[in-house]
Amino acid sequence: MKAVIANDHGAVELAEKLVKHLETRGIEAVHLGTCSSESVDYPDYAEKAVLEYRKGGYDFGILCCGTGIGISISANKMKGIRCALPQNAYAAKMCRCHNDANFIAFGGRIEYPEPVTDILDAYINASFEGGRHAGRISKMMALEGR
Ligand code: RB5
Repeated sequence: MKAVIANDHGAVELAEKLVKHLETRGIEAVHLGTCSSESVDYPDYAEKAVLEYRKGGYDFGILCCGTGIGISISANKMKGIRCALPQNAYAAKMCRCHNDANFIAFGGRIEYPEPVTDILDAYINASFEGGRHAGRISKMMALEGR
């Protein structure tokens, strides 16, 4: 598996932790930064990650900022992106099973009820169920540009 990951200054440590976790799982992680605490703009990092993902060969993307909110909203403005911002491992599993999320976002300044690596694992280990959910995804994507 291969994942792209990008973050702003609000989630440098979190992104490093997630990259290490991916590597221990044998998942190739392409980290686009930032690796510094110097202030950057999260839409720039959402864009970098989505453009890299679109090159192909990626199974999913991870985006992190202070809350996960700004960077997920930014990514969701780009065509074809379904970036989920799960509250816990259950939501992380379901965003793949029902919403076919191709990106997942986390907040470096958020206290999660479970280790973030467990939340990420719940996402990675899940798969899209298709069926009735496929029609809903089609309707969701048809909203793009409206
Ligand atoms: C940066 O200070 C912060 O606004 C950003 O990381 C994120 O939380 C925005 O949604």
